[in-house]
Amino acid sequence: MNVTTPILRIGLAGLGTVGASVWRRLASQKDLLRQRTGTEIRVDQVAVRRPERARECGVPEKLVTPNWHSLAANPELDVIVELIGGTTEAFELIRTALQNGKHVITANKALLAERGAELFQLATKHQRHLLFEASVAGGIPIIRALREGLVANRIVSIHGIINGTCNYILTRMNEAGLEFEDALAEAKREGYAEADDSLDVDGHDTAHKAAVLAALAYGFWVPPGRLYTEGLRGVEKQDIVYARKLGYGLKLLAIIKTDPDGAAEVRVHPTLIPQSHVLASISGVFNAVLVRGDVVGDTLYYGRGAGGDPTASAVLSDLAQIASHFPQEQKARNVGHEALHSRLKTMDEIVSRYYLRLMVEDKPGVLADVARVLASRQIGISSVIQPEAHAGETTPLVVMLHDAPESQFRAAVQEIAKIGAVKAPPVSLRVEDFI
Ligand code: HSE
Repeated sequence: MNVTTPILRIGLAGLGTVGASVWRRLASQKDLLRQRTGTEIRVDQVAVRRPERARECGVPEKLVTPNWHSLAANPELDVIVELIGGTTEAFELIRTALQNGKHVITANKALLAERGAELFQLATKHQRHLLFEASVAGGIPIIRALREGLVANRIVSIHGIINGTCNYILTRMNEAGLEFEDALAEAKREGYAEADDSLDVDGHDTAHKAAVLAALAYGFWVPPGRLYTEGLRGVEKQDIVYARKLGYGLKLLAIIKTDPDGAAEVRVHPTLIPQSHVLASISGVFNAVLVRGDVVGDTLYYGRGAGGDPTASAVLSDLAQIASHFPQEQKARNVGHEALHSRLKTMDEIVSRYYLRLMVEDKPGVLADVARVLASRQIGISSVIQPEAHAGETTPLVVMLHDAPESQFRAAVQEIAKIGAVKAPPVSLRVEDFI
């Protein structure tokens, strides 16, 4: 019997680092993917602005079009892979492709964080897949883990190191004793940071990815602007040194969790974590995501979060998912409709442990004054360190605190800043113990 292999026809939009790897890897893994999915995955059209880029990547001229409109309008294509980035044209491309009955694969976390709710509604309306494995943590299959491997679990919490550039910077500040600006300059020299570094170091890229993970975990899209985001610019080397003395390491974490009463918190900020915890050992550009499910307990995912081939691996996995069922239609499961937890806490409502560094004049009664303010707000001290100082000198006083509501902690810090012996604005960091 002669059974013909079905062909899944792809339109590839964008030939940047990831697009070029997708093109190359679809060729190198072609036979493997056909064996595993029973379908041939074939790129039939490529949209790229500069024709010379297509030549560099070895894309035959007959496949190339200079604009994405022809991809979205091409009736022969089954799937559009959106790798052009940005949030304007990419939105139009995805919208048009879905309206024209095509499945869409995207790596665009900024777009999903901004307009995911709209796009998934559209995908549902047209019963098309909108897949996005490459949007969070590059090559780590975290989206599929949440949607499939952990589908029977309520997600208790997710803690993610999901920006390689920031993790590289913090690793170098810790290991080589660099200040933030020097570590950032090194990351740029090594090709790990963009010339415009804001998306990474101000935490926005992590926040976009956190919004995607939260939508998967809790079924709603955090409105842009309501996701608390703090990046690395305020981090000083001395705080990494003191924290290490206290047994903690510093990571830029995406934190997503719920209370037993169902209120969710989604936030991104530099966070102290115990050095003995596995996430503290994630160094350099690597990513890791710790997911706690109510049935499974803790699970950990580790790998490369950026780069052409790791990200292409994720795009190819989305293509394989569609190819495995092709040409039958698999019911499209979209994101952000389940509203498992629809109340998002404000930052004032969160409860955390804190690290507080004060620059104080070394004189009798200062520690007592600080302790009095904290005690008046029911905030307990768990440890204190102060380097040996001479009377009258300004010295750091580092205080680790027990759990406190953020609102109480902030109010206490404002009061402490007014104590006469406190000579500089207090520095604080949140602490996670993973209990
Ligand atoms: N710039 C990101 C990172 C990769 O450093 O992880 C793309 O999201």
